[in-house]
Amino acid sequence: MFICNCHGLNEQKVIEAARAGVEKWEDIHSYFGTKPSCGMCSEEIRQIISEQKNV
Ligand code: FES
Repeated sequence: MFICNCHGLNEQKVIEAARAGVEKWEDIHSYFGTKPSCGMCSEEIRQIISEQKNV
């Protein structure tokens, strides 16, 4: 399931970037060489980042 439909980022990719230390939802996109566009994925990405901080 895609978290970011605009750039095809799935949950696994977002978790991978969060575990690598990415802390902002915009930077998750940069990590994969894209730029955020519509922003609809921001809440879900922020949630995954905060979950990964607590692991
Ligand atoms: S769904 Fe991620 S930028 Fe549009």
